[in-house]
Amino acid sequence: MFKNIMVTGGAGFIGSNFVRLIINERKDYNVINYDKLTYAGNLENLDDIKNNDRYTFVKGDIADFERVSETLKKYDIDVIINFAAETHVDRSIMGAVDFIKTDVEGVYVLLEAARLRGGLKRFIQISTDEVYGSVEIGYSKETDTLMPRNPYSASKAGGDRIAYSFFATYNMDVIITRASNNYGPYQYPEKLIPLFITNAIEGMSLPLYGDGLNIRDWLFVEDHCRAILFLLENGENGEVYNIGGGNLHTNIEITKKILEYMNKPETLIKPVKDRIGHDRRYALDSSKLEKLGWQPQMSFEQGLKFTIDWYCKNERWWRKLKNQDFKEYYKKQYIDREK
Ligand code: NAD
Ligand code: DAU
Repeated sequence: MFKNIMVTGGAGFIGSNFVRLIINERKDYNVINYDKLTYAGNLENLDDIKNNDRYTFVKGDIADFERVSETLKKYDIDVIINFAAETHVDRSIMGAVDFIKTDVEGVYVLLEAARLRGGLKRFIQISTDEVYGSVEIGYSKETDTLMPRNPYSASKAGGDRIAYSFFATYNMDVIITRASNNYGPYQYPEKLIPLFITNAIEGMSLPLYGDGLNIRDWLFVEDHCRAILFLLENGENGEVYNIGGGNLHTNIEITKKILEYMNKPETLIKPVKDRIGHDRRYALDSSKLEKLGWQPQMSFEQGLKFTIDWYCKNERWWRKLKNQDFKEYYKKQYIDREK
C-alpha cells in the first residue's frame, strides 16, 4: 500500500520509538528519517537499527523547502509522518521564534513541497492535546474548540490547522493526531518524568511547579506509536484523532510514585514557583479511535516502573544529554524559582 515513508523528527523521543516500531514490524516499508538534529535530536536513539537496509537518515530542516523537495524526489516519498517540532513548553515561554518557524512554517513547507511534487498518498501531522487548552472538567473531543494558551501549543495549533487546510483546500490525504503526555524510553531529560527520575538518581531536588495539582493524561510511548501506525493503515482522510492514555494524575502523585519506586525520600521534592500560564488539566476522550480498534496496552504502574528501570540501566545515554548546554538551560529555567 505504502512504500517510502518519510518520518520527520525521527531522532527525537517519540519519532525514534516510531521508527524502531515500523522497521521491526513492517518489512515492506522503507523509512527515511529526516531530522535537523536540534538539542533534542539524538541519533544514538536508533543505534540498534541504524544499519538496517530499509532505514536511511537525512539531516535536514522541515522549514527548508529545497532540502525537503530534494528528499521527497530522491527517495520517491509516498507518506510523510511529521513528528518534527520544538516541543518543550518552558522553552517556548523563554522565546518562541524557533517554535513558530518549525511548528507552523515547517508544517506548511512539508505540505507545500509535497503538493507541488504530487504523488503523496498520506500526510500525518502529529499534533497534541495541548491545542484544546486547559480543560478544567470533562474530556476533549476532536470537535471541541481549540484554545491553546502557551506559545508551544499555539504554534502546534497553527500546524494542526495548516495540515487540515491542505485536505480541505487541495484534497490532499491528511490525518491529524492529538496525543496526551507521553513517557517512556529515550525521552530527553527536560520533561517531567525523565527529569525527576534522573535528578533522583543524581541526588538532586525535584522542582515541582506551583501546588503540584496540575493534571496530565499519561500515555506510554509505544502505545502512542502503535496508534499512529494503526491510523497510517486504517485512518480516514481528513479526520482528527485523539490518542489518550486514560491515566489522569496530578504531578505530585507522579512525583511521589517515582520516589517510592526508586526508594528515595520525599524530602527531594522542592516546590518552586509555578510555570506562567500553566494549563491546569488536560484530558482526552479517545473513543473515536477506540471504536476503530486501538486501545492502550500499558498500565501506568507498569509503564512507570519500566521507564524508571530503563533510565537506571541507561545512565550513559542520559548523562551525555545533561551536558554543559543543558546545565545552562537548567540554571536559567530553575534558578529564580525558589518560592
Ligand atoms: P522531541 O523534542 O523529543 O524531538 C523532536 C525532534 O524533532 C528532534 O529529533 C529534533 O531534532 C527534531 N526537529 C526539531 N526541529 C526540527 C526541524 N525544524 N526540522 C527537522 N527536525 C526537527 O519531541 P517528542 O516529544 O518526541 O515529540 C514529537 C512530536 O509529538 C512533536 O510534534 C510533539 O509536538 C508531539 N507530541 C509530543 C508529546 C509528548 O508528550 N512528548 C505529546 C503529544 C504530541
Ligand atoms: O500534553 C502533551 C504535551 O505534553 C506535549 O505536546 C509536549 O510536547 C510535552 O512537552 C508535554 O507538555 P507538558 O508541559 O505537559 O510536559 P512537561 O513534562 O514539561 O510537564 C508536565 C507537568 O509537570 C506540567 O504540569 C508541568 C510540570 N513540571 C514540569 C517540569 C519540567 C513540573 O512541575 N516541574 C518541572 O520541572
